[in-house]
Amino acid sequence: MMSTSSLFHPLQLGPLQLPNRIVMAPMTRSRSSQPGDVPNDLMARYYAQRASAGLIVSEATPVSRQGQGYSFTPGIYSEEQVAGWRRVTDAVHAAGGRMVVQLWHVGRMSHASFQPDGVPVAPSALSPDAQVWVVGEDGVGRMVDCPLPRAMTVDDIRAVVGDFRRAAANAMRAGFDGVEIHGGNGYLLDQFLRTTSNHRTDDYGRSIANRTRFVEEVVAAVASEAGVERTGIRLAPFITQRNMNCPEIIPTILSLAKKLDEMGLAYIHLAEADWDDAPAIPEVFRHALRQTYKGRVIVAGKYDAGRAERILNQGLADLVAFGRPFVANPDLPARYAAKLPLAELDPQSLFGGDARGYTDYGVYAG
Ligand SMILES: Cc1cc2nc3c(=O)[nH]c(=O)nc-3n(C[C@H](O)[C@H](O)[C@H](O)COP(=O)(O)O)c2cc1C
Repeated sequence: MMSTSSLFHPLQLGPLQLPNRIVMAPMTRSRSSQPGDVPNDLMARYYAQRASAGLIVSEATPVSRQGQGYSFTPGIYSEEQVAGWRRVTDAVHAAGGRMVVQLWHVGRMSHASFQPDGVPVAPSALSPDAQVWVVGEDGVGRMVDCPLPRAMTVDDIRAVVGDFRRAAANAMRAGFDGVEIHGGNGYLLDQFLRTTSNHRTDDYGRSIANRTRFVEEVVAAVASEAGVERTGIRLAPFITQRNMNCPEIIPTILSLAKKLDEMGLAYIHLAEADWDDAPAIPEVFRHALRQTYKGRVIVAGKYDAGRAERILNQGLADLVAFGRPFVANPDLPARYAAKLPLAELDPQSLFGGDARGYTDYGVYAG
């Protein structure tokens, strides 16, 4: 069905032709195959079911074992994982879709059980005062406290930049159409940006230019493999949880946005609301971002079709990402186009488990 809604105007994103402005937001679902955190055919089916999105952003995907903080999240550092992702991208492309991978390093949002040397890394040895989901040897998943991380050395920083570079190269081999760097939600890149989590006194701390340095190095490394026109970043300026309430974050993000503009980055993806941490984004920030950064802007966080159309029509975003609505509605664009009712999602089956609450949500059947 044709629709006059701005949600259904096509858009060019770097080399990608998107048929609509609807993005499937990145969502961790913790269903990779064990051992090895390997993407599988069930995941291929889940993503292919949602291929009518203008763009799919994969669930957050660790660039290394050190970068993992939650059980069963699929990685992109082993050959087995690259082969698994190839099956996913093939299925999405066969269904007519486009998909980028969200590259992730959790930093201090981790747990000893994931860490090769038992201790998570961070810009500084400061606790996030938060929890991560870990499946124990008894097979039961629990929320557990994040331990105190150790401060990264400059060699550690270089190694992580190298892990992002290798992951981006792997993403291209796995057939992704691009790469989204996870720079939000209190994970490693975000930890470098904020004075609350970054107490470094070297070239990576104190001033705004120093706090954005690590993110710029990661972006440059990823872009060198994926192409800058296929590289985007997710940022979450307004979160406060996880000890992230930094008083300097807005000027820091705007300074970073200027550098990303100069680099020619394809898009900035704003995570506005994550779970219950749902700050309202002031319009003045949206305008400032548009003035500073000329690439595409994606917004996400509790949007419905009406709010999404309004922000597109105001010119304050180019694309809108939907998370939870896509879980229960694999045919979300068709439902929005025809103004059909949406199915409710089952929160109990979000993380881990099997096809139930994952690939068994149907298309609209009247
Ligand atoms: C089950 C679940 C998993 C999520 N995992 C991720 C993730 O891996 N990476 C990320 O950047 N955001 C993640 N998010 C946040 C979503 O991308 C999105 O920003 C958020 O759900 C708000 O959008 P919504 O109201 O449309 O769901 C997750 C959200 C949910 C509900």
